[in-house]
Amino acid sequence: MKKTPATCDVENWIYSDTVKDHFFNPRNILLDEKDYVADGIGVVGSPACGDMMALWIRVDKKNNCITECKWRTFGCASAIASTSMLSVMATEGGGMTLARAKKITPEAIIDRLGGLPDRKYHCSVLGHLALREAVQDYESHAE
Ligand code: FES
Repeated sequence: MKKTPATCDVENWIYSDTVKDHFFNPRNILLDEKDYVADGIGVVGSPACGDMMALWIRVDKKNNCITECKWRTFGCASAIASTSMLSVMATEGGGMTLARAKKITPEAIIDRLGGLPDRKYHCSVLGHLALREAVQDYESHAE
């Protein structure tokens, strides 16, 4: 039987079915933004691993709700699953208000995913920071 290093906690590498679903079928991914007209854009990088995340939102200006949340990343499977879930959370039920969207936490995303391995926490931070930046970008132009 192949041995693993003693420092590797292999049991914590398991991904939930929800993570796998969002990784293999990512929601709201935007492969080419050339013809996409966004109301706000956020681009962030992860200091932990160097991966990048870009996120675009469209806003219902009357109700201050997010109607579309598109994204693309060079990040890993966990970043893809996390941001896919984030995009669903931001737009479900008619769209989240901008005020609420700015308060989404990585923990809330991970909770909806049914967990993430501990060492993948930083991958879920990318999407929530990019969303926050996209909302701030929209608000800076809307005034
Ligand atoms: S390891 Fe870089 S985003 Fe997950």
